[in-house]
Amino acid sequence: MYLSHLSLTHFRNYQKLEIDFSGPLTLFQGENAQGKTNLLEAIYYLATSKPVHAQTEREIVDWLAEDEPIPFARVAATVLTDASRRPLELEIVLSQRGEGGAFQKQIKINGSNKRSLDLVGQMRAVLFLPEDIKLVDGSPGERRRYLDIALCQISREYTRSLSQFQKVMTHRNGLLKTLREQNARPNDANVAGQLAFWDEQLTAHGSAVMARRHQFVQQLEQCAHQRHLELSDEREQLALQYLPSFNLGNMSDADYARLKENRLDRIEPVQDNNGLTAEQLQPHFMAKLASRRGREIAAGNTLYGPHRDDLRFLANGRDLRTYGSRGQQRTAALSLKLAEVQAMTVATGAAPLLLLDDVMSELDAVRRSTLLTALEGVPQALLTTTDWDDFTPEFRARAQLFTVAKGAILPLSA
Ligand SMILES: Nc1ncnc2c1ncn2[C@@H]1O[C@H](COP(=O)(O)OP(=O)(O)OP(=O)(O)O)[C@@H](O)[C@H]1O
Ligand SMILES: [Mg+2]
Repeated sequence: MYLSHLSLTHFRNYQKLEIDFSGPLTLFQGENAQGKTNLLEAIYYLATSKPVHAQTEREIVDWLAEDEPIPFARVAATVLTDASRRPLELEIVLSQRGEGGAFQKQIKINGSNKRSLDLVGQMRAVLFLPEDIKLVDGSPGERRRYLDIALCQISREYTRSLSQFQKVMTHRNGLLKTLREQNARPNDANVAGQLAFWDEQLTAHGSAVMARRHQFVQQLEQCAHQRHLELSDEREQLALQYLPSFNLGNMSDADYARLKENRLDRIEPVQDNNGLTAEQLQPHFMAKLASRRGREIAAGNTLYGPHRDDLRFLANGRDLRTYGSRGQQRTAALSLKLAEVQAMTVATGAAPLLLLDDVMSELDAVRRSTLLTALEGVPQALLTTTDWDDFTPEFRARAQLFTVAKGAILPLSA
């Protein structure tokens, strides 16, 4: 996977940018607020079809583009995948429909119109941000978003299941609200009949999502555990626990209750954990919905499923969200990201692009060198910094160097 050319028009503070990349390492230096994060965001946007920070996609359109007859933003890239295939041309255009209207997203792959679903996974990337610590100490929603972005890049099947699950849940929530307004009785055969179709659909797609997340967390854990051990001078055992909103059937109910309360030292699996499939999980999901129908109608909302999942980080058995120091949390987040790089490489057979935004400033010497070691052997890494001195002269000698100022990028003259 190699990004050889990037082209931006009206993307945040870049009015116009054309840039070619060569070699595995590219380092961008710039003062604050010059466009370093925006540049990496543009690349990640092409990889994931989602803006990194923005609440709405219109935020990424350059403010100055409002003077254009039709305000728009465009990101396009040429990506080399493998020598035998022709380069991939990827493009996203956001354009406004009518004055003050909504922005519409148009995606092209090699010139043909495509859906987001087709774009994600074409150019895979892992993004390192200084605020990655939020994965450990932030809300469950951030951790679910993280899992989804990683898994959607790895698996089209996952992307499809997730999108189907969301559609079905919207319909089902509509029905639950209607039933609530009608004061429907949960045990009424008619109510069960109305929900039956949606329950079946919800649990089919939801189980596929949960089984894949469960498997992915186990994969991540293996590698993250190793990285965390190295980073903590062999002192800390990192564990990742996938926390679904109901017992998936892979442990006893007593163990599940203790897991939720974080009082579980050892899980006695009732079946081989690695083999947990959507088919095995679905009956447990169905049973949960059947037993909680009254509660869901009262809430007018779907209360169980992948949209209520969480992920827990433990160091030597203690929850890092509650008990971890900033340094421990940061180390766990870095171990997780490094594990993601490996998991993605294993799952797809090709290393992802690495995007590292100003991460050096947050890391001590050991963590810096671990991170730089992870870059070795990766076909391409793009890094930003405010300070050249965050990188050794040897590293800089191996990298392509640019300066970023006011939305313009210039090669560093020697
Ligand atoms: N839609 C937009 N249109 C124009 N400018 C924007 C838009 N969105 C953000 N900006 C501006 O882009 C500038 C650069 O932001 P960016 O986050 O890339 O800076 P940075 O170089 O990463 O800085 P730092 O070192 O502080 O992280 C900011 O001043 C911001 O106000
Ligand atoms: Mg920045």
